[in-house]
Amino acid sequence: MTQPNHTQQSGTIGWQSPSNIAIVKYWGKKDIQIPLNPSVSMTLSESCSKTVVDYRPRQSGENQFTFYFNHLPNPSFEPKLNTFFQYVTQQYPYLSDYHFTISSSNTFPHSTGIASSASSMSALALCITQIHHIISQHNTNFTPTDAGSLARLGSGSACRSIFGGWSLWGKYEPITESSDYQATSINDSTHPIFHHFCDSILVIDDKKKSVSSTAGHHLMNQHPFAQGRLNQAFANTKRLLSSLQNGDIEQFISVCEEEALSLHALMMSSNPGFILLKPNTLVAIEKIRHFRSEQHIPICFTLDAGPNLHLLYPAEYQTIIKNWIDSELKPFCSNQLVIHDKSGNGPQPL
Ligand code: DP6
Repeated sequence: MTQPNHTQQSGTIGWQSPSNIAIVKYWGKKDIQIPLNPSVSMTLSESCSKTVVDYRPRQSGENQFTFYFNHLPNPSFEPKLNTFFQYVTQQYPYLSDYHFTISSSNTFPHSTGIASSASSMSALALCITQIHHIISQHNTNFTPTDAGSLARLGSGSACRSIFGGWSLWGKYEPITESSDYQATSINDSTHPIFHHFCDSILVIDDKKKSVSSTAGHHLMNQHPFAQGRLNQAFANTKRLLSSLQNGDIEQFISVCEEEALSLHALMMSSNPGFILLKPNTLVAIEKIRHFRSEQHIPICFTLDAGPNLHLLYPAEYQTIIKNWIDSELKPFCSNQLVIHDKSGNGPQPL
């Protein structure tokens, strides 16, 4: 990377970036945030992080960044941010001459099963990469894709949030443009039935998770089923991409639930093993499967590394499904909390 001949500048940049929900899960990584397997996700619309970064020349002895969450200092984010700024300095060494004041907030509550690291790290990577473009007087226009690799370094799943609609991250040979370093949009090759897709999140438990995703990925290093999981993830990527292209919702449902349950099976069979599902997660899963077979409505669930369920279904079934959630599933949610989201268009400048 050539060092830009930069004058010491100051300014403010802001981005709003959504979270995403993975269907084929990223679980396990190597080297510098390189995924063990490809993952496929849908970017959300309402569940976003809003991040504003003020940049100015750094004074001697000063930290590289100051961080505010909801207008207050929040030291719990500092370890992840310290690691992120080490990567920033590796990619753009001259940025270590700058101080960044970061103010961030989320449009959704914490610990509800919505990946805040995906939204917050993509928003921050967009801000820092655009600042780099401005300071270094880049001769091309800044586009969100430029931030993909830095977003990945902040949090793997964050690089999928750079695009609206459906994204693939991780090298998958049949898709030439796929990469381990950043995500690729697969939205244009996706059947219209998946363009207006809903995600209703059942908040079964709103307590902080007992194992972070980052710690969870490391459990795959010595996992007895590691090779089987890799084979499964590649096979499910193939099945999912073909269902997304052909509008094959039956196959989509089959891959989606297999991936969700496999993720938890892998956590349970790790050493140490983790059980993140709650009794009400299982009650809700039974009800979802029963409703699907009785009503012939294409709805399915997925899970991240926690107990909360994401219900995925085409937008045309919204009214009937929301009524059913209100009457049958809300009682199993913590404080009756259900968050209704849907597929969205990706990050927006603030
Ligand atoms: C289960 O992206 O949060 O949600 O790269 O360590 O920040 P880091 O992990 P993260 O892992 C997400 C794991 C997952 C599945 C997924 O989103 O693909």
